[in-house]
Amino acid sequence: MSSENSVTLHGVSKSFGEKQVLDNVSFSVGRGEAICVLGRSGTGKSVTLKLILALLKPDAGNIRIGDDEITQLEGQELSRVRRRMGFLFQSGALFDSLSLHDNLALPLRRLTKKSKDEIEEIIDRVLGQVELAGDKHKMPRELSGGMQKRAGLARALVFEPETLLVDEPSSGLDRITASEIDDLLLDQKVRRGSAMIIVTHDLHGARRVGDRFAVLDKGRLAGLGRPQDLEKHENETVRRLVGG
Ligand SMILES: Nc1ncnc2c1ncn2[C@@H]1O[C@H](COP(=O)(O)OP(=O)(O)O)[C@@H](O)[C@H]1O
Ligand SMILES: [Mg+2]
Repeated sequence: MSSENSVTLHGVSKSFGEKQVLDNVSFSVGRGEAICVLGRSGTGKSVTLKLILALLKPDAGNIRIGDDEITQLEGQELSRVRRRMGFLFQSGALFDSLSLHDNLALPLRRLTKKSKDEIEEIIDRVLGQVELAGDKHKMPRELSGGMQKRAGLARALVFEPETLLVDEPSSGLDRITASEIDDLLLDQKVRRGSAMIIVTHDLHGARRVGDRFAVLDKGRLAGLGRPQDLEKHENETVRRLVGG
Protein backbone atom coordinates (compact mmCIF):
# COMPACT_ATOMS: atom_id res chain seq x y z
CA MET A 1 0.00 0.00 0.00
CA SER A 2 1.71 3.20 -1.11
CA SER A 3 -0.76 5.58 0.52
CA GLU A 4 -0.02 6.65 4.09
CA ASN A 5 -3.65 7.18 4.87
CA SER A 6 -5.98 4.26 5.28
CA VAL A 7 -9.13 6.30 4.78
CA THR A 8 -9.50 9.77 3.28
CA LEU A 9 -12.73 11.69 2.82
CA HIS A 10 -12.50 14.72 0.58
CA GLY A 11 -15.37 17.20 0.24
CA VAL A 12 -18.02 14.60 0.98
CA SER A 13 -21.65 15.70 0.89
CA LYS A 14 -24.78 13.62 1.27
CA SER A 15 -28.47 14.49 1.23
CA PHE A 16 -31.58 12.38 1.63
CA GLY A 17 -34.32 14.10 -0.35
CA GLU A 18 -34.36 17.73 0.75
CA LYS A 19 -32.37 17.05 3.87
CA GLN A 20 -28.63 17.67 3.70
CA VAL A 21 -26.96 15.37 6.20
CA LEU A 22 -23.27 15.91 5.37
CA ASP A 23 -21.86 19.10 3.88
CA ASN A 24 -18.32 19.12 2.46
CA VAL A 25 -16.70 16.86 5.04
CA SER A 26 -12.96 16.09 4.74
CA PHE A 27 -10.64 14.17 7.02
CA SER A 28 -8.20 11.26 6.90
CA VAL A 29 -7.06 8.57 9.25
CA GLY A 30 -3.63 6.98 9.06
CA ARG A 31 -2.33 3.54 9.99
CA GLY A 32 -2.16 3.03 13.73
CA GLU A 33 -4.36 6.05 14.30
CA ALA A 34 -7.82 6.26 15.86
CA ILE A 35 -10.20 9.08 15.07
CA CYS A 36 -13.26 9.44 17.27
CA VAL A 37 -16.27 11.03 15.63
CA LEU A 38 -18.35 13.06 18.04
CA GLY A 39 -21.60 14.91 17.49
CA ARG A 40 -25.20 15.14 18.65
CA SER A 41 -27.58 12.49 17.38
CA GLY A 42 -28.75 12.89 13.83
CA THR A 43 -25.62 14.78 12.71
CA GLY A 44 -24.56 12.12 10.19
CA LYS A 45 -22.07 10.05 12.16
CA SER A 46 -23.47 6.66 11.16
CA VAL A 47 -24.03 7.91 7.61
CA THR A 48 -20.31 8.78 7.49
CA LEU A 49 -19.39 5.19 8.36
CA LYS A 50 -21.85 3.82 5.80
CA LEU A 51 -20.33 6.05 3.11
CA ILE A 52 -16.86 4.74 3.94
CA LEU A 53 -18.17 1.18 3.64
CA ALA A 54 -19.82 2.16 0.36
CA LEU A 55 -23.21 1.09 1.68
CA LEU A 56 -24.23 4.60 0.63
CA LYS A 57 -22.87 6.78 -2.19
CA PRO A 58 -21.98 10.44 -1.61
CA ASP A 59 -23.62 13.13 -3.78
CA ALA A 60 -20.27 14.93 -4.03
CA GLY A 61 -16.67 14.40 -3.00
CA ASN A 62 -14.55 11.30 -2.91
CA ILE A 63 -13.54 8.61 -0.47
CA ARG A 64 -10.26 6.74 -0.71
CA ILE A 65 -9.50 3.48 1.04
CA GLY A 66 -5.73 3.17 0.69
CA ASP A 67 -5.23 3.90 -3.00
CA ASP A 68 -8.74 2.99 -4.11
CA GLU A 69 -11.34 5.66 -4.84
CA ILE A 70 -14.37 3.69 -3.71
CA THR A 71 -17.07 5.93 -5.12
CA GLN A 72 -15.89 4.73 -8.57
CA LEU A 73 -15.92 1.00 -7.74
CA GLU A 74 -18.60 -1.61 -8.14
CA GLY A 75 -19.17 -5.33 -7.81
CA GLN A 76 -16.11 -7.52 -7.26
CA GLU A 77 -13.72 -4.60 -6.96
CA LEU A 78 -15.81 -2.99 -4.27
CA SER A 79 -16.10 -6.28 -2.36
CA ARG A 80 -12.31 -6.61 -2.44
CA VAL A 81 -11.86 -3.14 -0.88
CA ARG A 82 -14.65 -3.70 1.64
CA ARG A 83 -12.95 -6.86 2.84
CA ARG A 84 -10.00 -4.75 3.97
CA MET A 85 -12.32 -3.04 6.47
CA GLY A 86 -13.87 -4.47 9.59
CA PHE A 87 -17.00 -2.94 11.03
CA LEU A 88 -18.74 -3.19 14.33
CA PHE A 89 -22.24 -1.82 14.18
CA GLN A 90 -24.41 -0.90 17.12
CA SER A 91 -26.88 -3.72 16.62
CA GLY A 92 -27.44 -6.74 14.49
CA ALA A 93 -23.91 -7.99 14.98
CA LEU A 94 -24.75 -11.70 15.07
CA PHE A 95 -27.22 -14.12 13.49
CA ASP A 96 -29.43 -15.36 16.36
CA SER A 97 -29.84 -18.83 14.91
CA LEU A 98 -26.12 -19.56 14.59
CA SER A 99 -23.60 -20.35 17.32
CA LEU A 100 -20.76 -17.92 17.90
CA HIS A 101 -18.46 -20.29 16.01
CA ASP A 102 -20.79 -20.48 13.01
CA ASN A 103 -21.30 -16.71 12.99
CA LEU A 104 -17.56 -16.35 12.48
CA ALA A 105 -17.21 -19.28 10.09
CA LEU A 106 -19.96 -18.05 7.75
CA PRO A 107 -18.16 -15.07 6.18
CA LEU A 108 -14.92 -17.07 5.93
CA ARG A 109 -16.64 -19.95 4.14
CA ARG A 110 -18.62 -17.66 1.88
CA LEU A 111 -15.97 -15.12 0.94
CA THR A 112 -12.68 -17.02 1.00
CA LYS A 113 -11.27 -20.29 -0.29
CA LYS A 114 -9.67 -21.12 3.05
CA SER A 115 -9.61 -24.75 4.18
CA LYS A 116 -11.62 -26.00 7.14
CA ASP A 117 -8.47 -26.11 9.27
CA GLU A 118 -7.45 -22.59 8.33
CA ILE A 119 -10.93 -21.36 9.20
CA GLU A 120 -10.84 -23.05 12.61
CA GLU A 121 -7.44 -21.49 13.26
CA ILE A 122 -8.73 -17.99 12.47
CA ILE A 123 -11.81 -18.47 14.65
CA ASP A 124 -9.69 -19.59 17.60
CA ARG A 125 -7.32 -16.68 17.11
CA VAL A 126 -9.95 -13.93 16.95
CA LEU A 127 -11.96 -15.41 19.82
CA GLY A 128 -8.75 -15.49 21.86
CA GLN A 129 -8.18 -11.82 21.04
CA VAL A 130 -11.57 -10.86 22.48
CA GLU A 131 -11.35 -13.32 25.37
CA LEU A 132 -14.21 -15.54 24.23
CA ALA A 133 -12.16 -18.66 23.49
CA GLY A 134 -14.27 -20.80 25.82
CA ASP A 135 -17.61 -19.61 24.44
CA LYS A 136 -17.51 -20.58 20.79
CA HIS A 137 -20.34 -23.09 20.93
CA LYS A 138 -22.72 -20.70 22.68
CA MET A 139 -25.71 -19.16 20.94
CA PRO A 140 -25.89 -15.33 20.84
CA ARG A 141 -28.77 -15.28 23.35
CA GLU A 142 -26.50 -16.98 25.89
CA LEU A 143 -24.02 -14.10 25.73
CA SER A 144 -24.19 -10.94 27.88
CA GLY A 145 -24.30 -7.50 26.23
CA GLY A 146 -20.56 -7.05 26.65
CA MET A 147 -19.84 -10.53 25.29
CA GLN A 148 -22.05 -9.84 22.27
CA LYS A 149 -20.06 -6.66 21.57
CA ARG A 150 -16.82 -8.62 21.85
CA ALA A 151 -18.26 -11.28 19.54
CA GLY A 152 -19.16 -8.54 17.04
CA LEU A 153 -15.59 -7.32 17.26
CA ALA A 154 -14.27 -10.85 16.70
CA ARG A 155 -16.37 -11.03 13.55
CA ALA A 156 -14.99 -7.69 12.41
CA LEU A 157 -11.47 -9.10 12.82
CA VAL A 158 -11.72 -12.35 10.83
CA PHE A 159 -10.30 -10.78 7.67
CA GLU A 160 -7.50 -9.01 9.56
CA PRO A 161 -8.76 -5.61 8.44
CA GLU A 162 -6.40 -2.67 7.94
CA THR A 163 -9.21 -0.39 9.01
CA LEU A 164 -11.83 -0.79 11.70
CA LEU A 165 -15.08 1.18 11.67
CA VAL A 166 -16.96 1.14 14.94
CA ASP A 167 -20.38 2.64 15.69
CA GLU A 168 -21.01 3.44 19.35
CA PRO A 169 -19.09 0.60 20.97
CA SER A 170 -20.17 1.52 24.50
CA SER A 171 -23.89 2.00 23.93
CA GLY A 172 -25.94 -0.12 26.31
CA LEU A 173 -22.90 -1.22 28.29
CA ASP A 174 -21.91 -0.37 31.86
CA ARG A 175 -18.75 1.65 32.49
CA ILE A 176 -16.49 -1.34 33.25
CA THR A 177 -17.70 -3.43 30.31
CA ALA A 178 -17.37 -0.41 28.03
CA SER A 179 -13.80 0.12 29.12
CA GLU A 180 -13.01 -3.54 28.39
CA ILE A 181 -14.17 -2.95 24.81
CA ASP A 182 -11.98 0.18 24.71
CA ASP A 183 -9.01 -1.93 25.85
CA LEU A 184 -9.58 -4.34 22.96
CA LEU A 185 -9.81 -1.48 20.44
CA LEU A 186 -6.66 0.10 21.85
CA ASP A 187 -4.89 -3.24 21.59
CA GLN A 188 -5.86 -3.59 17.91
CA LYS A 189 -4.62 -0.10 17.19
CA VAL A 190 -1.31 -0.45 18.98
CA ARG A 191 -0.45 -4.07 18.25
CA ARG A 192 -1.77 -4.39 14.70
CA GLY A 193 -1.46 -0.79 13.60
CA SER A 194 -5.07 -0.73 12.42
CA ALA A 195 -6.61 2.57 11.43
CA MET A 196 -9.84 3.21 13.31
CA ILE A 197 -12.85 5.43 13.00
CA ILE A 198 -14.96 5.21 16.12
CA VAL A 199 -18.31 6.95 16.51
CA THR A 200 -18.96 7.46 20.17
CA HIS A 201 -20.79 9.46 22.83
CA ASP A 202 -18.48 8.21 25.52
CA LEU A 203 -15.87 10.92 26.11
CA HIS A 204 -13.97 8.87 28.64
CA GLY A 205 -13.43 6.06 26.12
CA ALA A 206 -12.83 8.51 23.28
CA ARG A 207 -10.01 10.16 25.20
CA ARG A 208 -8.40 6.79 25.93
CA VAL A 209 -8.62 5.31 22.45
CA GLY A 210 -8.75 8.35 20.14
CA ASP A 211 -5.67 10.18 18.90
CA ARG A 212 -7.79 12.84 17.24
CA PHE A 213 -11.45 13.84 17.37
CA ALA A 214 -13.64 14.80 14.42
CA VAL A 215 -16.61 16.84 15.62
CA LEU A 216 -19.67 16.97 13.39
CA ASP A 217 -22.21 19.72 13.87
CA LYS A 218 -25.22 20.09 11.58
CA GLY A 219 -23.53 18.04 8.90
CA ARG A 220 -20.32 20.07 8.86
CA LEU A 221 -16.96 19.12 10.26
CA ALA A 222 -16.87 21.77 12.98
CA GLY A 223 -13.61 20.65 14.58
CA LEU A 224 -10.77 18.25 13.83
CA GLY A 225 -7.75 17.74 16.04
CA ARG A 226 -6.33 16.48 19.28
CA PRO A 227 -8.75 16.66 22.22
CA GLN A 228 -6.52 19.04 24.19
CA ASP A 229 -6.50 21.46 21.24
CA LEU A 230 -10.24 21.21 20.57
CA GLU A 231 -10.94 22.15 24.21
CA LYS A 232 -9.83 25.68 23.23
CA HIS A 233 -11.71 25.69 19.89
CA GLU A 234 -13.57 28.87 18.88
CA ASN A 235 -16.80 26.92 18.25
CA GLU A 236 -18.75 26.46 21.47
CA THR A 237 -20.42 23.22 20.30
CA VAL A 238 -16.97 21.74 19.68
CA ARG A 239 -15.74 22.80 23.13
CA ARG A 240 -18.84 21.33 24.76
CA LEU A 241 -18.67 18.02 22.87
CA VAL A 242 -15.03 17.43 23.75
CA GLY A 243 -15.76 18.28 27.37
CA GLY A 244 -13.73 21.49 27.53
N1 LIG B 1 -31.04 5.64 4.50
C1 LIG B 1 -31.51 6.82 4.92
N2 LIG B 1 -32.56 7.41 4.29
C2 LIG B 1 -33.02 8.62 4.68
N3 LIG B 1 -32.53 9.33 5.72
C3 LIG B 1 -31.50 8.79 6.38
C4 LIG B 1 -30.93 7.52 6.03
N4 LIG B 1 -29.92 7.26 6.87
C5 LIG B 1 -29.84 8.32 7.71
N5 LIG B 1 -30.79 9.23 7.44
C6 LIG B 1 -30.96 10.53 8.12
O1 LIG B 1 -29.71 11.16 8.18
C7 LIG B 1 -29.54 11.86 9.41
C8 LIG B 1 -28.25 11.42 10.06
O2 LIG B 1 -28.36 10.05 10.46
P1 LIG B 1 -27.23 9.28 11.24
O3 LIG B 1 -25.95 9.37 10.51
O4 LIG B 1 -27.77 7.93 11.51
O5 LIG B 1 -27.12 10.12 12.61
P2 LIG B 1 -26.15 9.89 13.84
O6 LIG B 1 -25.20 11.03 13.86
O7 LIG B 1 -27.03 9.92 15.05
O8 LIG B 1 -25.48 8.56 13.66
C9 LIG B 1 -30.79 11.58 10.22
O9 LIG B 1 -31.65 12.67 10.08
C10 LIG B 1 -31.37 10.34 9.57
O10 LIG B 1 -32.75 10.32 9.73
MG1 LIG C 1 -25.64 6.77 14.69
